[in-house]
Amino acid sequence: MHTFQPYPIELLEMNPFTKIGKEWALVTAGSKTKCNTMTVSWGGVGVIWNKNVVYIFVRDSRYTKEFMDQGDFFSLSFFDEKYRPALSYCGAHSGRDEDKFEKAGLTPAFRHSIPYPDEANLVLLCRKMAAVPMGEEVLLDKSIMSNFYKDNDMHTMYVGEIIETMAR
Ligand SMILES: Cc1cc2nc3c(=O)[nH]c(=O)nc-3n(C[C@H](O)[C@H](O)[C@H](O)COP(=O)(O)O)c2cc1C
Repeated sequence: MHTFQPYPIELLEMNPFTKIGKEWALVTAGSKTKCNTMTVSWGGVGVIWNKNVVYIFVRDSRYTKEFMDQGDFFSLSFFDEKYRPALSYCGAHSGRDEDKFEKAGLTPAFRHSIPYPDEANLVLLCRKMAAVPMGEEVLLDKSIMSNFYKDNDMHTMYVGEIIETMAR
């Protein structure tokens, strides 16, 4: 079990383009009884409704979406480069079929009952504020539909208030 320190969000220096887009992250949701994690490389951090937030995009087909929809909280976690194989694994296998934590060599841990992988080096604990299904009607650039949604596996955007940041 690693020891995480609460980390003031004002001190957070992160470039979302590299941190999320290139280094990737794990979104983890669920409860102590059952939780799941999956890799994301689309999303961001920002401010809305006077809150510091993250926003992530989860396709309908993801098992993780069931946990995102059932619960009120989720985490977004970042890792050292040595965990890239684990993130690749969690982005290519579904928790529907197996215990992905175990298979990827990750350990579920909990803070305020919110699940996160213990191997992370930075964890953003989030309270779900909005779930926005992104149907074809919101896509103004019509090429997006044919480029990304030929199979109709649409994204829902989840906006989560960052309630605590933990680093080690
Ligand atoms: C680098 C990378 C980035 C990904 N980013 C996303 C994403 O932002 N949103 C999404 O819905 N799926 C994304 N995926 C795909 C899911 O992680 C993948 O389908 C995963 O197996 C879903 O697992 P689950 O069914 O256990 O939820 C990504 C996969 C990889 C490898």
